[in-house]
Amino acid sequence: MKFTADRLLLFGATGDLAQRMLLPSLCALDADGLLGSDVRIIGTARSELNDSEFRNFAREALEKYLPANRRGSMANFLNRLSYQALDATTPDGFGDLAEKVGKTESGPDHGLAIFLSTAPSLFEPTIAGLRHAGLTTGNVRIGLEKPLGIDLGTSCEINDAVASAFTEDRIFRIDHYLGKETVQNLLALRFANILFEPLWNAAHIEHVQITVAETVGLEGRVAFYDDAGAIRDMVQNHMLQLLALVAMEPPSNFDATSVRDEKVKVLRSLREVAGNETVTGQYRAGAIGGKAVPGYDEELGKSSNTETFVAIKAHVDNWRWKGVPFYLRTGKRLPERVTEIVVQFRCVPHSIFAGPKSKGGGATMTPNRLVIGIQPKENISLSLMAKVPGLDREGIRLRSVPLDIAMPDAFTGTHNRIAYERLLLDLIEGDQTLFVRRDEVEAQWEWIDAIRALWETEALEPKTYTAGSWGPSASIALAERDGVTWHE
Ligand code: BG6
Repeated sequence: MKFTADRLLLFGATGDLAQRMLLPSLCALDADGLLGSDVRIIGTARSELNDSEFRNFAREALEKYLPANRRGSMANFLNRLSYQALDATTPDGFGDLAEKVGKTESGPDHGLAIFLSTAPSLFEPTIAGLRHAGLTTGNVRIGLEKPLGIDLGTSCEINDAVASAFTEDRIFRIDHYLGKETVQNLLALRFANILFEPLWNAAHIEHVQITVAETVGLEGRVAFYDDAGAIRDMVQNHMLQLLALVAMEPPSNFDATSVRDEKVKVLRSLREVAGNETVTGQYRAGAIGGKAVPGYDEELGKSSNTETFVAIKAHVDNWRWKGVPFYLRTGKRLPERVTEIVVQFRCVPHSIFAGPKSKGGGATMTPNRLVIGIQPKENISLSLMAKVPGLDREGIRLRSVPLDIAMPDAFTGTHNRIAYERLLLDLIEGDQTLFVRRDEVEAQWEWIDAIRALWETEALEPKTYTAGSWGPSASIALAERDGVTWHE
């Protein structure tokens, strides 16, 4: 049933994500008039707070994490909030929670959206408690924050538990990268322009690079990160979603079924990675932006084998991408925060500017390259060959020049939105296009599990890299073996 929720129940309401992203996103939506006037937000977590204490907590979070010009009338937003303490490990408190949430009437403008941002170990008892309290009926949908498991087996367990109470059309698995404006713009670039699609294949593209580089280290998420590592924290979800959007066939519509049908085909076409196609690393103390930063072991307080960097040469085994490597790399404590996709086109088949050998052999040709900046700079840059001005008595000289579009310049007067604004609104309104379907998550895990199994068989240990560098030298070698240089 299609409905717009009039209540949002936030599990993990006093957690880090709620403070930094969820409450600010909801307040910003409210300020822009995008939350229906009757939408109520009920927070729940273990902490014993009453409504007004939760509102104070929310106010502090907004003052810290939401720019003043996006807050609108905070009082209006805070009035929507209420709170119910709950220990989700036992079914006892769910009755009180259901009472606080109120009766779920049915109808297009009534319903409940639940957002689970808790430790994965709480997913199953939470679902059981919700079912017990009558909070899983047809007019209730649920959003799930990552991590959804630590491998295919545990992910299936979570998916099964959720499926026992919610049908797939009411399950919204979040990958916050899909909420980013620039990630959606990738679809516009590919499918709203005639220019790229005819060239978007192995005949014209030599390779693709996807980089998600971060300068931050552990940020206090010691236990979580050390169990996950870079491959499960970043590649299994965000990077594979980016890859799927770059590689997928044109969907027939921008709707949940069409888009996700095409993405899952790509994810299922990923070839098993060979031993020499991955590199892992872990940072040692170094400096970023002139500031000294500690090594991973020091931040963690013990030594560990967890990778904080991973580079992978991936292949999509289908007609379109036959023989086109996709180089993926991500890491913590790299020199800059940057997420970008580089599409490297092939050389022209024949240069008419070769020029006479006697006069130096003619112009050098650089193949075209499309760089899609996702963050922090939102820009699209296409390198084109141009003639260097001059009389060219020795033959034409050429140089690569960029055709640049900076999104903020192209769209003045708009503001940067938090990815969760879009996702929370879609959760409330029931649009699944930007959420990950079960078959996608499972295909992602299958590929990642095989890589991790390979690391284990080959007893691969992360190579060290200095914080502030671009990862271990083996990552550079991984690309250079194929004559490819990482874009920096
Ligand atoms: C999260 C990871 O999913 O994404 C974090 O758990 C990472 O480790 C974060 O820092 C990166 O998100 P963004 O939006 O800052 O690129």
